Amino acid sequence: MTRIYNFSSGPAVLPEPVLRRAQEAIWDLDGTGIGVLEHSHRGKAFMAVLERTEARLRALAGIPDTYAVLFLQGGASTQFFQVPMNFLGAGGTADYCHTGVWSKKAMAEARRFGAVHVACSSEADQFRHIPAEEETAWSSAPVYAHFTSNNTIYGTQWRSEPAVPAGVPLVCDASSDIFSRPIDVTKYAMIYAGAQKNLGPSGVTIVIIRKDFLETGSRDLPTMLQYRTHAGEQSMFNTPPTFAIYVIGEVAAWIAAEGGLAAMDERNRAKAALLYDYLDQSKLVRGTVRPDSRSLMNVVFRCVDESFEPELVARATARGLDGLKGHRTVGGMRASLYNAFPIEGVRALVDFLRELEAARA
Ligand SMILES: Cc1ncc(COP(=O)(O)O)c(C=O)c1O
Repeated sequence: MTRIYNFSSGPAVLPEPVLRRAQEAIWDLDGTGIGVLEHSHRGKAFMAVLERTEARLRALAGIPDTYAVLFLQGGASTQFFQVPMNFLGAGGTADYCHTGVWSKKAMAEARRFGAVHVACSSEADQFRHIPAEEETAWSSAPVYAHFTSNNTIYGTQWRSEPAVPAGVPLVCDASSDIFSRPIDVTKYAMIYAGAQKNLGPSGVTIVIIRKDFLETGSRDLPTMLQYRTHAGEQSMFNTPPTFAIYVIGEVAAWIAAEGGLAAMDERNRAKAALLYDYLDQSKLVRGTVRPDSRSLMNVVFRCVDESFEPELVARATARGLDGLKGHRTVGGMRASLYNAFPIEGVRALVDFLRELEAARA
């Protein structure tokens, strides 16, 4: 059976060598005679998987020992409340950069625990850009500042971290661009990401959190919801998502073998440029995002004649270009080009769009 090009926004395409190794590991993990799905999480074989996965992530992104790397469950959506539950008490204020659906959800959860100050927002232009420093006003003493590094639905991405005042802990939802480019982890108090876009299967959330920051979290919470619990127990307080952790370890090894985060960045830029360059001169389709804010991960575009969009998506699917329908809140099309998405797939999409444009001219 041939595989087709999968533009899904997540769960999303994974590297082929990783899928092949995972197939083998389901049968027999590392020559143990037991498959990865069947090993006890407390046994030697899985502990080795956990340790190498963490070590590979640390090596890839230069994560210092002053940070814990946690493998949690409940998706990024759980982090939307777990972060304020730990760090935002009554009387406190947390600052949020509002750049789309996901930041809105994060803010709604935070408001259950304390005050939310919207430091900047691109809502007025339907989230078509990333707010500049001049558009941003921080509150006087936020307990943390939160931003969404890549907006999966609207197709915008921060070029660099927002310039938070010195000493304010920076918290990032990096679900849709984690490890797609080099990152200076030391600028952050915490980074979290559902794994199902750039890192592996759904079911595990990566949390990279500064140890002194996590210690400031509330002690008055259920044990499972305190970050210190998981940091103290190496993510083994309860049964972790063992298979998802295994796959992340293999994805991390693949990224390293391909040249690391700098190589991913270079590739991701080349892939996105192919598509944006076409969109910029097409008479059939147009990009929706301001050029300085375009995401390298999720390219959102519309037909000039919007009524043609369902047909375009159907024809693309018939050509083996799957998952292009845009998110229901914005419509149109979205091509997700995560690390594992091959440049050949972008070429195939551009060729398809060119042919369609010529046929309709
Ligand atoms: C940027 C961002 N944050 C949060 C989420 C929610 O993640 P989860 O489904 O893992 O809770 C998503 C899902 O697509 C996302 O793209």
